[in-house]
Amino acid sequence: MSLGSIAVVGASLAGLRAVEMLRSDGFDGRLTLVGAEPHLPYDRPPLSKQVLRGDWQPDRIALRRGDWDDLALDLRLGRRATALDLGARKLELDDGSTLDWDGLLIATGASPRWLPGTRGLAGVHVLRTLDDALALRADLEGTPGRVAVVGAGFIGAEVAATCRERGLEVSLVEPLSRPMERGLDPEIGALMAQVHRDHGVDLRLGTGVESLEGTSRVESLKLSDGTTLAADVVVIGIGVAPETGWLETSGLALGDGVICDQTCATAVPGVVAAGDVARWTHPVFGQSLRVEHWTNAVEQGVAAAKRLLAGASSGEPFASVPLFWSDQYDCRLQYAGIGGFDGERRVVHGSLEERRFVCLYEKDGRLHGALALNQARRMIAYRRMIGERASFTDALAHAESSG
Ligand code: NAI
Repeated sequence: MSLGSIAVVGASLAGLRAVEMLRSDGFDGRLTLVGAEPHLPYDRPPLSKQVLRGDWQPDRIALRRGDWDDLALDLRLGRRATALDLGARKLELDDGSTLDWDGLLIATGASPRWLPGTRGLAGVHVLRTLDDALALRADLEGTPGRVAVVGAGFIGAEVAATCRERGLEVSLVEPLSRPMERGLDPEIGALMAQVHRDHGVDLRLGTGVESLEGTSRVESLKLSDGTTLAADVVVIGIGVAPETGWLETSGLALGDGVICDQTCATAVPGVVAAGDVARWTHPVFGQSLRVEHWTNAVEQGVAAAKRLLAGASSGEPFASVPLFWSDQYDCRLQYAGIGGFDGERRVVHGSLEERRFVCLYEKDGRLHGALALNQARRMIAYRRMIGERASFTDALAHAESSG
């Protein structure tokens, strides 16, 4: 099938890297980029840190430094895709217009979950978009200063750290027994809990939220352990759901994301997906994955664009090893791999006490994951070894020889 026109839905990191790749790979047909937000693509990691702290203004986080005219895009910002007709190969937008395409790249990302019944109550925030970050920042500037963060995942832990750096009183409420339990092994989770306590966070672990109280504005939270927590501002960071609502009537296979094969292609020719919304079968780990991190959005945006251009001639399996990082206070955490911490683990380079180390994880005799705290430069080699299915013994030998 020759592609005269391509539509990329989602004007964030994966979508931008995809259109850049399509043009640099020589696609010279009509290229449309549709994005629900009114802004040009921007970088999200600084939102919970530099932007929220007030150190950076929005112009610092623009993602594209090059000339937009070079991409020759039909750019539709502030427009949401509402439906997809796979038979007619048409996209419906929220202004009632339709868009024809020969190739379609879905990169609509994910949206924050809210605690039931809390949306619209003044003082209650989620943090996903630039507008969310600016609204939260404005609220933090104008309030007496007691912040309750609900959910100690990545957003919650980073927002709690930034609010402490702003000098605010912070409580962090999490139903599980450790922060970032989804992404970290229990011992490292416990270490990060201590880091937050050391910085003065009132950490409430093993406790859920029953309700938020307040009339014109939030005043307190009722916790499941029976206590009441006073708060002027509440930030909810309880996870995200992939943005697939607009695809529900399309017939595309969905299941916690857009279902793709190893090459980021859906079962419909000429339709691919990338970023937080894409669920694909990882060729190295043999598992179905959906990865919600920055590096994956960059690499999968590029891979899905190449897959689209490869057409029926198939494409390369997308074999990138998931990697995330998170900055909290003076700690930079990095993890490469897909989680699963039940095998052998070994701290190499540094120690937990120094809060500067690399920890390696084993599964079935292989190097399965690597976590670094304040040892960023060491991760490149371990990430590569995970992708190559290196043995755990070889990884330990590498650690030994690299000092
Ligand atoms: P998350 O999935 O990382 O964490 C959600 C946390 O909320 C979990 O600890 C969970 O136990 C808790 N939780 C769930 N339901 C709850 C409830 N009803 N009440 C209280 N707590 C509850 O999701 P998070 O932190 O919201 O992040 C959203 C997205 O942004 C994720 O995709 C994340 O990967 C991404 N992100 C990535 C960062 C990074 O890579 N450094 C930084 C910030 C966000």
